[in-house]
Amino acid sequence: MKHPIIEDLRWRHTCKKYDSTKRISETDLDVLFEALRLSASSINSQPWRFVVIESEEARQRMNGTFAHKFQFNQPHVTAASQIILLAHNPRYTREDYAEVVDNGIEDGRTRPEEREDAFGGFAFAEMNTDENGDTRCWTKAQLYIALGNLLHTLARLRIDATPMEGIDIERVNQAFAKELDGYQCDVALAIGYRHEDDYNAKLPKSRRRLDSILIRI
Ligand SMILES: Cc1cc2nc3c(=O)[nH]c(=O)nc-3n(C[C@H](O)[C@H](O)[C@H](O)COP(=O)(O)O)c2cc1C
Repeated sequence: MKHPIIEDLRWRHTCKKYDSTKRISETDLDVLFEALRLSASSINSQPWRFVVIESEEARQRMNGTFAHKFQFNQPHVTAASQIILLAHNPRYTREDYAEVVDNGIEDGRTRPEEREDAFGGFAFAEMNTDENGDTRCWTKAQLYIALGNLLHTLARLRIDATPMEGIDIERVNQAFAKELDGYQCDVALAIGYRHEDDYNAKLPKSRRRLDSILIRI
């Protein structure tokens, strides 16, 4: 199939080795960050926070979290251009939603006199909150929409990436507790440019057949 979207999605792969001499330009980073910000989410909740690791100090902190687990992902910490920690709010509240509602007023989407009505959508958050105030199943699902959106944006920009659930979640959340500020990181994304020895770049893409995943009725 020849279509620019399909070409983007065929071009991308999970990068297994980065060229540490190459760094993403600020112009492209701006596009990536804006794409993250524009991601869709249920009731426009945007229950996320993104911590971008790029300084030597932050890289060292991230490096330390690989002491016990998932060392196959560790080389990306130094070789990739950036590592993004994608985090979600595991206890999303009405106060959190108030920021969304007030942004809606500021952006001219909601009239100030309709502020109270705008909280109607929060029922969706309540439906997904357990008796202890835990929203993590729902907020984590929203976060992965941002991850998918970012993966496609990266492909469009011909920037390589490695989604990583292979991180020591406990250590990462401890090491970056200040920056995460109560948000929970379960997945990270390395971004940069592939090394010529990245074996995965040369492998054919493999996916389930369309007729085993799609039913048209
Ligand atoms: C949420 C998520 C977590 C992943 N975690 C890792 C990981 O820790 N390390 C890794 O090398 N690949 C990881 N992958 C990459 C997948 O294995 C990969 O996307 C899949 O095999 C499809 O291959 P492709 O991305 O090259 O098309 C992850 C992918 C996703 C979407």
